Amino acid sequence: MTMTNSRPAGTVADAKSPPGVFVHPRGLCESDTVGPGTRIWAFAHVMPGAVVGAGCNICDHAFIESGARLGDRVTVKNITLVCDWVTIEDDVFLGPNVLFTNDFRPRAEVRKDRGELTPTVVRRGATLAAGVIVVTGTEIGEYAFVGAGAVITRDVPAHALVLGSPARPVGWACRCGERLTDKLICPACGAAYKPATPGTGLRAAGAGEPPGRLPGPAAPRV
Ligand SMILES: CC(C)(COP(=O)(O)OP(=O)(O)OC[C@H]1O[C@@H](n2cnc3c(N)ncnc32)[C@H](O)[C@@H]1OP(=O)(O)O)[C@@H](O)C(=O)NCCC(=O)NCCS
Ligand SMILES: [Zn+2]
Repeated sequence: MTMTNSRPAGTVADAKSPPGVFVHPRGLCESDTVGPGTRIWAFAHVMPGAVVGAGCNICDHAFIESGARLGDRVTVKNITLVCDWVTIEDDVFLGPNVLFTNDFRPRAEVRKDRGELTPTVVRRGATLAAGVIVVTGTEIGEYAFVGAGAVITRDVPAHALVLGSPARPVGWACRCGERLTDKLICPACGAAYKPATPGTGLRAAGAGEPPGRLPGPAAPRV
């Protein structure tokens, strides 16, 4: 389904778009599985078969390939590529120019079936800052924070702050985004954390969720 520029900018999409989905007149949404409240901006392209949840923001020039799956309230900043076999859970922030991959050893002369490609998962609440490159086959844990320009080659534990190429852990990030102290306390919101199962990062120390900017209730999926 090709969007024309017949609709005035800034209106909710017409019958060609999934219900409740805003598609900019110069955006291209070919998927019919996009949740309500999602906005798809100019020159962004959501391919047929891509699954996008509710309340997402897909910014200019982003590309969401068939087979990609995005949860609810995901931010996809400008020029970011989410390819086939990539799963993005709820409340993930993908900064501008983030690149995912799905073929570990690509060759133009070697054609591969879809089943020969490898999956990548970004868990709930994680941030991938500007220019991050994710080498395929990795899992980025809940509320992990990947600093600008990092190259992910290994799994990232929950709440880990990783930087550089290849990305290495340098500390821990709170759900609110601040870096934790050595005692695993957030200097900004006061949340406390403790190690989760070895190798899987941190979890909130209290019974409930830590304070901080919490998302609202999930909107229904279509
Ligand atoms: C990671 C980040 C949050 C800073 O974290 P921080 O713990 O406050 O780090 P600091 O600024 O105190 O820097 C600590 C050290 O890490 C280095 N560093 C900071 N960010 C880095 C990055 N992305 N990659 C490599 N090194 C980095 C600093 O140079 C500094 O090194 P030094 O001690 O040798 O001088 C920030 O640099 C970042 O990447 N933010 C994302 C911005 C972005 O892409 N936003 C997208 C939407 S616009
Ligand atoms: Zn905090």
